[in-house]
Amino acid sequence: MSHLLAGVLLLGYFNNCFGKVVPRSVQSFVDHELVPDILNSPPESILSVIFPNGINVSEAMELTPEQVKGVPNLQWNANSNRLYTVVFCDPDAPSREAPDGRSFLHWLVINIPDEDVDEGDTIVNILNSHPEPETGFHRYVFLVYEQPEGVVFDLLPNESFEGRVNFSVEDFASRYNLGIPVAGNFYFTQTIE
Ligand SMILES: *[C@@H]1O[C@H](CO)[C@@H](O)[C@H](O)[C@H]1NC(C)=O
Ligand SMILES: *[C@@H]1O[C@H](CO)[C@@H](O)[C@H](O)[C@H]1NC(C)=O
Ligand SMILES: *[C@@H]1O[C@H](CO)[C@@H](O)[C@H](O)[C@H]1NC(C)=O
Repeated sequence: MSHLLAGVLLLGYFNNCFGKVVPRSVQSFVDHELVPDILNSPPESILSVIFPNGINVSEAMELTPEQVKGVPNLQWNANSNRLYTVVFCDPDAPSREAPDGRSFLHWLVINIPDEDVDEGDTIVNILNSHPEPETGFHRYVFLVYEQPEGVVFDLLPNESFEGRVNFSVEDFASRYNLGIPVAGNFYFTQTIE
């Protein structure tokens, strides 16, 4: 057995000993305070997020606004007989120190079949991450929820800018009985002028 594998198994063992079993891959959601800032529990798995320029997001990566332009490709472990909702938001609006607009909703797509976001219904169009200068690093978070079995959501597309501010992920998830996100990922971006 390699030392690396032995180390990973040992760490998993110690995590269990302390009673709190958080899968190692999503521990970063706790380390970077997305739990509890916007979530009660971390997602169940890491979401694959790849931007058009090839940037493959890993949790807590620091990226420039330039690197995170366009519509990313998202992949998770989908059940072919279920529909999914994707939320992309910035909990640190207008800044992490004073997040009075927590969260700013960047993208909301519902009724996604089979990881095929293009086939879902877009409620709020994607806005790329471009935080105000001098507001430091913002966390940009992707969450994928599995819709309750057999439920097709009926929401109208929302073009209003106001609808993006003060978006509560947990309120949204509980209103639609979405439970814990099945996958998620996040990165940091700041604007330097
Ligand atoms: C993206 O990175 C992860 C590791 O962080 C890797 O497992 C995955 O295969 C990569 N995806 C692509 C398409 O390269
Ligand atoms: C968002 O919430 C803050 C308080 O946290 C409030 O001051 C502000 O008016 C709200 N904005 C909107 C657009 O509802
Ligand atoms: C749509 O925008 C309005 C603000 O104009 C807001 O009150 C409403 O909650 C939004 N709906 C959704 C689904 O975001």
